[in-house]
Amino acid sequence: PAPLRVAVLGCGVVGTEVVRRMHDARDELAERVGVPLELAGIAVRHPGRDRGLGVDPGLWTDDALGLIERDGIDIVVELLGGLEPARSLVIRAMERGASVVSANKALLAAHGPQLHESAARHGVDLLYEAAVAAAVPVLGPLRDCLCGDRIDRITGVVNGTTNYILDRMTRTGGDYASALQEAIACGYAEADPSADVEGTDAAAKAVILSSLAFHTWPDPTQVYREGITGVTAQDVADARACDRVVKLVALLERSVEPDGSTVVLARIRPTMVARHHPLAHVGGADNAVLVEAHVAGPLLFRGAGAGGVPTSGPVLGDLVTAARRRLQGRFAAGPPLAVRAPERPAGAQAVAGLRSRH
Ligand code: HSE
Repeated sequence: PAPLRVAVLGCGVVGTEVVRRMHDARDELAERVGVPLELAGIAVRHPGRDRGLGVDPGLWTDDALGLIERDGIDIVVELLGGLEPARSLVIRAMERGASVVSANKALLAAHGPQLHESAARHGVDLLYEAAVAAAVPVLGPLRDCLCGDRIDRITGVVNGTTNYILDRMTRTGGDYASALQEAIACGYAEADPSADVEGTDAAAKAVILSSLAFHTWPDPTQVYREGITGVTAQDVADARACDRVVKLVALLERSVEPDGSTVVLARIRPTMVARHHPLAHVGGADNAVLVEAHVAGPLLFRGAGAGGVPTSGPVLGDLVTAARRRLQGRFAAGPPLAVRAPERPAGAQAVAGLRSRH
């Protein structure tokens, strides 16, 4: 049977592991899908660099647009990060009829509704399980298993880098700067680590969680956000003295207004978490998401929250899913997720620290 052709955009920490497994486990993946997944090309900034992945040297290109515009590309795996050119390339790929798999939380948070509309219009899949909490499968359960339930609150540790730093400071009394350098060396941090330590990465993930849990896409810039740059060794020691640990906590909460409308409160901020709370035990670069559902009750999702290998897992899972659905002709029909803008009662922000409970 004819293979499905896959274009990979970006080959950084995550892309390297995705390409490695596509190459090394090609027979296994072909078995899962039913036909081979053929790497059609890998777009990178420096195609000449040897990455030791054993793939055909002719696959590397610096022309991402040219790659996705080639005939017969079935699936585009976008691992570039950032808003542009990722947004334009993903839109173009869908216009050309390709399904898209992405790990790009900033892109989905900022342009999710537009991208979903485009996917629906062109009858293709847009999948991004890796965008939130890396290896921890939380988007699929929210989208599928819990879509008949009502989610009341989500509390999470959704950034691995900051958790690694705070965990290091808690366990060893180590300083912030050296813990950050370690997190960068481990491949946990964003290309610009200020996105991690200032909370913008966690805010983007909160927006994506909100879209699935509360069916509204807040504007990421409206999520109340405090990062960890101001957390001192003394803060960590003070927390320990009262049997607590400092975590960068993302809180998303449904709130019903006096007029009956529902708003979602979202905030990211360093929080002293009691030792008996499940989030207190999330160590290293792990992530955890506690979902409080009306019918299902509390559910805890926990696991590796950053790093190339763990993040490649859900990317490959989405790739196999998108491939199977293409073969079955079951492309995402209609808007699969919430694509409407957030409901904002007059005079109130749907999501804002102004309204968070301190
Ligand atoms: N920089 C991110 C983090 C990577 O540390 O969580 C995973 O999204």
